[in-house]
Amino acid sequence: MRKFIGSVLCAALAVFAVLGVSGCKKSGGDSLYVGTNAEFAPFEYLDNGTIVGFDIELINEIGRLIGKEIVIKNMAFDGLLPAMQAKKIDIIIAGMTADDERRKSVNFTDPYFTSKQAILIDSGTEDIKTFEDLPGRDVGVVLGYTGDMVVTDIPEVKVQRYNATSEAIMALNAKKVDAVVLDYEPAKNYAKYNENLKLIETDLAREEYSIAVPKDQGELLGQINKALETIKGNGTYDRLMSKYFNE
Ligand code: ARG
Repeated sequence: MRKFIGSVLCAALAVFAVLGVSGCKKSGGDSLYVGTNAEFAPFEYLDNGTIVGFDIELINEIGRLIGKEIVIKNMAFDGLLPAMQAKKIDIIIAGMTADDERRKSVNFTDPYFTSKQAILIDSGTEDIKTFEDLPGRDVGVVLGYTGDMVVTDIPEVKVQRYNATSEAIMALNAKKVDAVVLDYEPAKNYAKYNENLKLIETDLAREEYSIAVPKDQGELLGQINKALETIKGNGTYDRLMSKYFNE
């Protein structure tokens, strides 16, 4: 009986779903649980409590193309890979750099964005102009970000690790650190909204953002890559690029 009521309810909700009202989770594993860390504007961030951004629109479009309902799960960045290993989420989209270390435990889709690290400083700071000026300084990074790895590799930097991007920025604003190293686009975004911060572009190695998929999900990986190709070819990608990165 309960099962019957369940199906009637589901059918009713499915009708709403067709009408554009979000319905119940479709049976047969049609939902795709997507992990992210929504403090990385413009890729993913909270807007009045709703998670929005380039990655979110991209993954919803991918979901549409491969026939999966996207369910976003927000969590700490360094909890994303463990959550995927524990099967709490199916994939990750989080401006995540496809690097060799991570490739040991996950597969990455084809890249969808190219970035690099940038340095944020107080606008009054005159003597930090490149990564070479960082040794001897207190430099803030976010735990587990590629910026953390880059700065950790520079000898004699006093690395201060924060759990969240906002915390690293707060430390910089409070002059607890001399600089923060972060991916270019989010760094640029913080500089835009914090007048007292200055952005330094660097010529550091390129990083490519990709969607992380478990090693044993080859079919899903293929489907996502195919959807990405469609999105890059049909104008959707260009539309998202100009919406989020229009200077
Ligand atoms: N690209 C960097 C990395 O892969 C930082 C990503 C941070 N993303 C986020 N959604 N907080 O480590």
